[in-house]
Amino acid sequence: MERPTELTTRLYATQLLLIIFVLLFMTTCPPVRATTQELLKGFTATPNPSVSSFQALLNDSNGNFSLGFLRVGRTQLSLAILHVPSAEPVWLANPTSLARWSEPTRLFFNGSLVLSDPHSGVLWSTQTNGGRVLLLNTSNLQIQEIDDSLSVLWQSFDFPSDTLLENENFTASMTLFSSNGLYSMRLGDDFMGLYAKFKPDSTQIYWKHKAMEAKAEIVRGQGPIYARVSSNGFLGMYQTEIAPVDVQPFDSFQRPIAGIRRIRLETDGNLKGYYWNGLSWVLDFRAIPNECDLPSSCGSYALCRPGDGCACLDNQTEYISGKCFPPESGDFCGEGEENENEFGVLRRKGVELPYKERMGFEKMGSLEECESFCEKNCSCWGAVFNNASGFCYKVDYPIETLVSVGDETKVGYFKVKKVAEKKKDLGFAAGIGLLAGAVVIFVGVAGFGSYRIWRSKKGPNGFMEDGFSPGPYKDLGSASFRSIELCQG
Ligand SMILES: *[C@@H]1O[C@H](CO)[C@@H](O)[C@H](O)[C@H]1NC(C)=O
Ligand SMILES: *[C@@H]1O[C@H](CO)[C@@H](O)[C@H](O)[C@H]1NC(C)=O
Ligand SMILES: *[C@@H]1O[C@H](CO)[C@@H](O)[C@H](O)[C@H]1NC(C)=O
Ligand SMILES: *[C@@H]1O[C@H](CO)[C@@H](O)[C@H](O)[C@H]1NC(C)=O
Ligand SMILES: *[C@@H]1O[C@H](CO)[C@@H](O)[C@H](O)[C@H]1NC(C)=O
Ligand SMILES: *[C@@H]1O[C@H](CO)[C@@H](O)[C@H](O)[C@H]1NC(C)=O
Ligand SMILES: *[C@@H]1O[C@H](CO)[C@@H](O)[C@H](O)[C@H]1NC(C)=O
Ligand SMILES: *[C@@H]1O[C@H](CO)[C@@H](O)[C@H](O)[C@H]1NC(C)=O
Repeated sequence: MERPTELTTRLYATQLLLIIFVLLFMTTCPPVRATTQELLKGFTATPNPSVSSFQALLNDSNGNFSLGFLRVGRTQLSLAILHVPSAEPVWLANPTSLARWSEPTRLFFNGSLVLSDPHSGVLWSTQTNGGRVLLLNTSNLQIQEIDDSLSVLWQSFDFPSDTLLENENFTASMTLFSSNGLYSMRLGDDFMGLYAKFKPDSTQIYWKHKAMEAKAEIVRGQGPIYARVSSNGFLGMYQTEIAPVDVQPFDSFQRPIAGIRRIRLETDGNLKGYYWNGLSWVLDFRAIPNECDLPSSCGSYALCRPGDGCACLDNQTEYISGKCFPPESGDFCGEGEENENEFGVLRRKGVELPYKERMGFEKMGSLEECESFCEKNCSCWGAVFNNASGFCYKVDYPIETLVSVGDETKVGYFKVKKVAEKKKDLGFAAGIGLLAGAVVIFVGVAGFGSYRIWRSKKGPNGFMEDGFSPGPYKDLGSASFRSIELCQG
């Protein structure tokens, strides 16, 4: 009587195991579409609530790049192309209008690749009528016709976000934006420039690289120039393919590199070049080599002392890893509002603007003349006077970081909003400084080793960033890829 029972229990156990195994398999195996190398009409995907950082939807043939949903904060997502081994996004479809990481958000392909949700409708679309979506091994996402021509109707290389990959053409109609939305890169007739947006509706150029035209000259009327990262280790500007009109060499110039190269406009406003050495991204180019020459290396109303860190313009405020005054905005031209146009004045000797060569100036006879020129103009935030040259540089956006110089005859005059002044008088300055420091530290910790701060305030939906880490994507990614292999095997 014992044997049959044992047998049946064993049978049950085997069945149970089988069921568990099948169930396990069904749950770990992603839908077939996740492993295909192209998306066809009818493709639909929704964000999976159990994915903590990146949900791959389409990978390239090498598995180096993957298109998918990237978590932004805890509740939002961006459609992104990730460099899989480093978990670094190299392209974002919708950096300014994030979607919710929840079921109603949908990515589908009906000839156009469309990201939508029922509330906002279409958030992003390629507006094409193509046959398939492919991710090339260069990270270029393409929508192609599936006829004999295989012509390309749309490609992500034409819509860069903050990164340019090797061999991606950057044209005069494109703009590269840092992920915080503050800085941008554009091409001019014969130069490439970096611009800061320190106030709405206007930008200030802070870095300009003019084509050297050593190997080829720019011919007027022969079309605009374009730029490209070359696999030979330089950022080139071209007018035709024959020869570059300019070469900005990287540290690894003309050294053969197995991995891919890229440049990125960073959140500090620098343009940096990297190559992949198989384990990490190696920095081999910085457009602005010195920290103090960055447009806002120490934050607002701060002073960058070469080799000696940051300080506040105002000697009474202690620099606590952040801003010296609460961030300012607007100007002094308001109407009616009491106090709005009032300002205090801060002066500091031995200072200079980090990119004064790019700033407008007027020649004046004296410091007093320069100061009163700024004082009287309500859109002026400050002025820096060089007594030796007589140049008066006017700053018409909220004051950012100045550079400390030995020359005491270079004098800065800065307006400070009265509101901030009053709080300071009441003894709140220290508290505000501490608070700002705490916020900065919190954001720093929350974002550690993770994703950069998203463009805030800019989204048409008014989404605010919350700076949460998208989590350890890499482990998760490789685990899910393993399960794909298991399924295929
Ligand atoms: C990534 O691409 C490089 C070439 O750039 C190739 O050698 C390497 O095998 C690829 N990596 C993977 C994981 O396929
Ligand atoms: C990406 O998908 C292809 C099959 O479509 C597969 O061969 C490849 O291994 C995948 N990449 C990774 C990293 O698993
Ligand atoms: C694809 O869907 C979008 C959004 O619903 C729609 O506007 C578009 O017309 C569709 N495209 C095609 C080719 O059907
Ligand atoms: C990338 O794909 C192209 C063809 O599409 C192929 O010729 C090339 O060898 C591939 N490169 C790598 C590194 O796999
Ligand atoms: C870049 O531009 C050159 C010249 O117009 C062209 O030959 C090349 O195919 C372009 N590359 C990409 C990836 O679009
Ligand atoms: C701040 O201190 C520096 C040197 O310590 C001095 O040169 C400067 O005049 C002071 N500025 C103000 C506004 O007190
Ligand atoms: C004040 O400054 C702004 C911006 O630099 C300038 O456009 C304007 O002409 C100036 N106004 C006067 C009255 O000088
Ligand atoms: C500024 O320059 C004038 C002459 O241009 C000179 O007389 C004056 O002494 C200088 N002031 C300082 C503080 O160096």
